[in-house]
Amino acid sequence: MLRRLHPDQPKSFAFTPANQAWAEAQLTKYPEGRQASAIIPLLWRAQEQEGWLTRAAIEHVATMLGMAYIRALEVATFYFMFQLQPVGSVAHIQICGTTSCMICGAEKLIEVCKQKIAPRPHMLSSDGKFSWEEVECLGACTNAPMAQIGKDYYEDLTAEGFGKMLDEMAAGKVPAPGPQNGRFSCEPLGGPTTLKDMSGEGQNGSVALATRIGDTLKRIDGTEVPLIAPWQGKPAPQAATGKATEAKPAAALPADTTGISKQEAPAISTAKPDTETGTKPQMLEQAKGAADDLKKIKGVGPKLEATLNAMGVFHFWQVAAWGPQDVAWMDENLEGFRGRVSRDEWVAQAKALAGNGAA
Ligand code: FES
Repeated sequence: MLRRLHPDQPKSFAFTPANQAWAEAQLTKYPEGRQASAIIPLLWRAQEQEGWLTRAAIEHVATMLGMAYIRALEVATFYFMFQLQPVGSVAHIQICGTTSCMICGAEKLIEVCKQKIAPRPHMLSSDGKFSWEEVECLGACTNAPMAQIGKDYYEDLTAEGFGKMLDEMAAGKVPAPGPQNGRFSCEPLGGPTTLKDMSGEGQNGSVALATRIGDTLKRIDGTEVPLIAPWQGKPAPQAATGKATEAKPAAALPADTTGISKQEAPAISTAKPDTETGTKPQMLEQAKGAADDLKKIKGVGPKLEATLNAMGVFHFWQVAAWGPQDVAWMDENLEGFRGRVSRDEWVAQAKALAGNGAA
């Protein structure tokens, strides 16, 4: 299938503050120079925030990761899980049309979608609340036919029940996900023949959780608690509001007439500080004599060294002289490597290196 960007695009994209914090925390999962590995989670987060992936969002993520726009576009257009056109404001319905579901009635569900939503997949309903598409097997074949709606599976569907479910959603209700025919989970239709003890008080574990946290249809908006960055041993900062940040790095990287940027999105070396946290340390125009090999500082690789040099940092003694305010500024303004200075204790390392050449 040909997957192209939608012709109508918003001018800009920004993560909500909490999603931005979450995205930046993701970057710390990867070794220096490997931040592009975070492309899928960041695109996914952008989609969960907006409902679909806009060009501005793709470029924003590419900029964050120091990737050329075309690399991020390759990922976004390759994977079908990324929606490249607007989806329903209430829900995007994904009907499984593969063998088990087809045999058990998926085509009738698709008829319901055509009647109640729109005649063609990926079209918005007239009220903008719904959209639909047929997808390949979603791995719930025992409970065919089924559909993924929002984050959850609705299984053992009938055309009539599915139609009512759409009406409920349109009215602002959230039907309980899971089997819709009274089945607990994916036990035989006639009841379990073994492992008969199904202690779940009427709902299997995933349905109970979805019902409890109530985010079946809700999109991630940064209000979820907690947004955890467990590898950092702390929760990511929470947003005070759900408002998007003003930072729009994508706008700084113009595209050519083909729609593709020629730049290699040098986000790390050209990123503009958007914060006044801390105090900018004194930088040098150029190295005084031979520059030190900053890569001797643990956690600094060639790319980060080049970034530091571009900022005016060439020597261990410069880093060794940083006080808390300098560290705070550097932590905040090393785009793509935020928090590295304090996390890897650069100052202590640099003091040792300035003294005897070994951290
Ligand atoms: S065939 Fe529909 S979930 Fe597998």
